[in-house]
Amino acid sequence: MRKICAAAELVERGLAVRFSVTRAGRPRAALAIRYGGQVFGYLNECAHVPIELDFNPGDVFDLSREYLICSTHGAYYQPDSGVCVGGPCVGKRLQAIPLVEQDGAIWLSEENEA
Ligand code: FES
Repeated sequence: MRKICAAAELVERGLAVRFSVTRAGRPRAALAIRYGGQVFGYLNECAHVPIELDFNPGDVFDLSREYLICSTHGAYYQPDSGVCVGGPCVGKRLQAIPLVEQDGAIWLSEENEA
């Protein structure tokens, strides 16, 4: 497993931690967030156009801290499912990257590096 960050770094509905994963041999930007006490990982790409969600690094929660928001055209996503619930890509979803919280850290399993 590859360590992404210390568990304490990932604050509830706070800034996301950016990391990268390999997909089809290519590095891709990804995000880890904490929501409802759980950790979620997603490719850092809007489901609408593959642009990174955060304009300011890690800043993906909207003002209500209830949704993730794409800073480019304003799509809203449910943090726990990645489903778009508002904006140009309603019904589509972010690509999930399963992360593990263990021993005070957040980890990416090797199976994610496909
Ligand atoms: S690129 Fe994300 S809403 Fe359009």
